[in-house]
Formats: sequence, C-alpha cells, structure tokens
Amino acid sequence: MLKEIKNICCIGAGYVGGPTMTMIAAKCPHINVNVVDINDNRIKAWNNPDTDYIPIYEPGLASLVNEARGRNLFFSTNVNQAIQDADMIFISVNTPTKTYGVGKGMAADLKYIELCARQIATVATSDKIIVEKSTLPVRTAEALKRILDNTGNGVHFDILSNPEFLAEGTAVSDLLNPDRVLIGGEETENGRLAQQALVDVYANWVPKDRILTTNVWSSELSKLTANAFLAQRVSSINSLSELCEVTEADVDEVARAIGSDSRIGSKFLKASVGFGGSCFQKDILNLVYISKSYGLNEVADYWEQVIIMNDYQKRRFAKKIVETLFNTVSGKRIAILGWAFKKDTNDTRESAAIYVADYLLSEQAELVIYDPKVTKDQIFSDLDYLGSRSTEENRDLVEVSNSPYDAVENAHAVAILTEWDEFVTYDWSKIYNSMLKPAFLFDGRRLLSDELMREIGFEFYKIGKG
Ligand code: UDX
Ligand code: UDX
Ligand code: ADP
Repeated sequence: MLKEIKNICCIGAGYVGGPTMTMIAAKCPHINVNVVDINDNRIKAWNNPDTDYIPIYEPGLASLVNEARGRNLFFSTNVNQAIQDADMIFISVNTPTKTYGVGKGMAADLKYIELCARQIATVATSDKIIVEKSTLPVRTAEALKRILDNTGNGVHFDILSNPEFLAEGTAVSDLLNPDRVLIGGEETENGRLAQQALVDVYANWVPKDRILTTNVWSSELSKLTANAFLAQRVSSINSLSELCEVTEADVDEVARAIGSDSRIGSKFLKASVGFGGSCFQKDILNLVYISKSYGLNEVADYWEQVIIMNDYQKRRFAKKIVETLFNTVSGKRIAILGWAFKKDTNDTRESAAIYVADYLLSEQAELVIYDPKVTKDQIFSDLDYLGSRSTEENRDLVEVSNSPYDAVENAHAVAILTEWDEFVTYDWSKIYNSMLKPAFLFDGRRLLSDELMREIGFEFYKIGKG
C-alpha cells in the first residue's frame, strides 16, 4: 500500500542535508522534518536564533530556515529518536576519499554510511524507507540492504537512491527549480511504492516531468557520471587555456565559439585555476577505482586524466607566479584574494587556493589571505591538514586579513583564486598604489579586464590569454 510520508529524518546536517531538508520543510508544511547530526556544534549553529550564523552560507538559505524552523523543521542531535519517528530516512553523511588502507586516496570511505545503517537497524521498530542522499559508489545500496536486513528487528526497509545535484552557492535556486530529481528504486512492488512515496514528496513543488525514476544502480552511477562529465568540461577548457596562452588565442573567445554549438552548450566552459569542491575529485576517483576493480583499466585511465589535468592546472598557475617574480618568491609578500572553492559559498573543500598557497609556501613566500566568507580558523585548518609543514610554520608564513586593502599593502603580487563578485568592484588603482613595484597581478578566474589593469600599471597575467 502506498505510504503517505508524514515524518522525515535526515542523518547529516551538512552542505547537502541542511539545505535539502530546509527546502522540503518549506515546500511541504504537512511533513515534519528532523535533521540530526552527531556534531553538536553544527546543530547548535543550525538552531542559532540569528540565522546569519547558521553553519552554511548560501544565498537565500537563512530566510528559508527562518520560515520553517520550529514549525516543521527541527535540528537536533537525538539521532535515535528521529530514526524511530520517521517514515523515511535520508542518509546524508560525508563520504570522503579514503585516507588509509585498501583504496587509499581513491575509494570512498563508507564508514559513516555503514555506521548510520547499523544504527538504523538497531533502533528502528517500524518499516522505513531509506534514501541514499550522499554521493555513493554504484552498488552501495546492496551493502546497505545487507546490513539493514541482517541486523534489524524484523522490520522492512526499502532502499532508494536519490542523489543530490545542487551546486553550492546556488543551492536554494537549484533545489527550488531543479533540472531533474532522480529517484532510483528496486524493481519490486515494494520498491515501486517506496519510489512513488518519494516522488509524491518532491511533487509538492517540482513538475512531474522533471522527476525521473530509474533502477537503483543507474541512479547511483548517474550521480558519479554527471560530476565526471562536468569536471571533464572544466579540465578540457583548462587544458586549452594553456594552448591559448602560447598561441595568442583567448580562451573565453574559444569557449564562446564552441559553446554556441547546441551540441556542446555554453555552460561549464569557464577556464580557471582548477576545479575544487567536495564532489568532483572524489567522484572521479570513485569512478576510477570502481572501473579498476572491475578490471576496466582503459576506462579508469580515461577518467583519471581529468584529475591529472586539474592538478597540473593548479601547479601551473603557482609556478607561473614564481617564474614571473624573477624565479623566486622567498620572503616576498603575496596577497591571495579568495579561498573558497567558488564564489557565494564558505566551503573550502579541495579548493584550488589551498594547493596554490601550499606551492607558494614551499617556495618560502609570505602569504596574506583574504576571503569574504571563509574564517581564519578554516584557512589554517586547510593548510595544516595538508601536513606539508608544521602548524607553527604555517602561522609564521601566513596572515589572514579582514580587509582586501590591508591584504595587498606592500605586496609584491596579488593572486585572485575565487571569482567573488566583489573583487571586480575594488578600487584597483588604490590597490596598485599600495603595492611594491613592479606590481604583479595574477587572475586565476579571468575576472578583470586586461586593458584596464595594464592601463593602471599592473604586470597582468590571466589564465588563458597570452
Ligand atoms: C563532424 C562535426 O559534427 C561537424 O560539426 C564538423 O563540421 C565535421 O565533423 P560529421 O563527422 O559529419 O561532423 O558527423 P557527426 O554527426 O559529428 O558524427 C561523427 C561521428 O560520431 C559519427 O560516426 C557518429 O556516428 C558518431 N557519434 C555522434 C556517436 O557515436 N554518438 C553521438 O552521440 C554523436
Ligand atoms: C558540483 C555539481 O555541479 C553539482 O551538480 C553536484 O551536486 C555537486 O558537485 P559544486 O561542487 O557545488 O557542484 O560546484 P560547481 O559549480 O560544479 O563547481 C565546481 C568547481 O568547478 C568549482 O571550483 C568551480 O569554480 C569550477 N568551475 C566550474 C570552473 O572552474 N569552471 C566552470 O566553468 C565551472
Ligand atoms: P555533505 O557535503 O555531503 O553534506 P558534510 O561533511 O557537509 O557533507 O556533512 C555531513 C554531516 O554528516 C556532518 O555534519 C557529520 O557530522 C554528519 N555525520 C556523519 N556521520 C554521522 C552519523 N553516524 N550520525 C549523524 N551524523 C553524522
């Protein structure tokens, strides 16, 4: 019998779980949504009466939280209670790349997912629909099912795959108006009913023709494939950015020319210092690992090249800075504008800025970093996490500034690593005047106009233009 969903629980109050559940609660006032997490500080922040301090910065998110929180949207650390109350449980915990053992540096670490499954199996006393929201390697649902079916209290679990396609920085508009919602389910009577129950939740605001249903494996694999294709476009245009620099072509002109072919399309062709974020690299590494585990070495090598190109692009940019500054940056002050992996987010996971900074620090540069949304603690924690040098050395060599104009004062060079809109609006003459001369400016996001910057007096380099 078709189940009407009245109570939803989401395990994991992160970048995916937080915004997604907020949207469900806002659009489905008749459904109670409990978002739970083991991280007490994160939950406290979600419950902060002043929604300016919720843990995730996303345009439009704070006001949606305000609208639904306390009405039918709740954040708590009481995981067991939320599991028990729920008809449907979303699993939205982190699945980072493994840092140990078999598959180190490649495979997804599923220990958090497995812990969730075991907890659900122990606690649940009524039938539940379990929804995989986190990005998972294909066939994870099989492992989930085995855990749930073997340690449960005789309750029935249906497992769905419902990957999230939102991009950070545009999470609210992506959730409000998704290109598609993908729901994979088992091809059984129960599986179809579970799938329909979730379709009905989304149908509260998403047009029916945008809700796609597939089998579980297609859904799991589609998420990895979508991210791999998107990342591949960025690596493709980035590979050509270097060719543009040596041939006097301009990569934005090339992108415009090819993007107007409807078969290619115009999006995701912006050359950059390299893609970052929690998904692209992790998902491609996943795809590579899975392909290898089935013996598909050519398939694995093909996709691995996307990562190799991305690592090269980050390194190439950093190297360009060193070479241009007369082959040494030792003791030189370099201002870095932007630390987030893209604009309009405070997320720094896999941000190109981290790797560029690390390269420059290894060349003994002194860095001053400014980002409009990323905290000082986060910046130091990202650098410390690499383990390239001691935490003391990081603090000796790196300063984090609250003002872009303070950051650039007496700098030998400025490097733009995130495409924040506000960077374009700065008084670049004032910045030029406060820097050492020659004043070098490296634009890793193609934000600024060459003519204008050269007119001001900068020695200007931008990715993809000779
Ligand atoms: C191509 C370009 O499309 C065209 O813009 C350029 O001017 C010349 O080269 P063409 O080679 O005539 O045109 O055919 P196209 O439709 O691009 O197909 C090329 C090959 O790719 C064919 O063998 C086609 O079967 C194959 N293909 C195309 C696929 O296997 N899958 C697809 O989705 C599309
Ligand atoms: C991505 C997918 O877009 C999203 O569908 C999925 O759910 C999660 O992963 P996200 O990582 O939030 O989203 O951001 P995205 O906009 O895809 O950007 C990823 C990286 O690529 C960023 O560092 C961005 O700056 C870079 N990028 C993107 C480019 O360098 N050039 C482009 O043209 C597009
Ligand atoms: P994503 O970008 O996929 O949302 P995040 O790291 O932002 O990833 O969020 C994942 C959240 O899941 C974290 O806040 C983490 O504390 C939480 N989490 C991980 N394991 C568990 C668990 N077993 N129970 C509850 N919450 C968990």
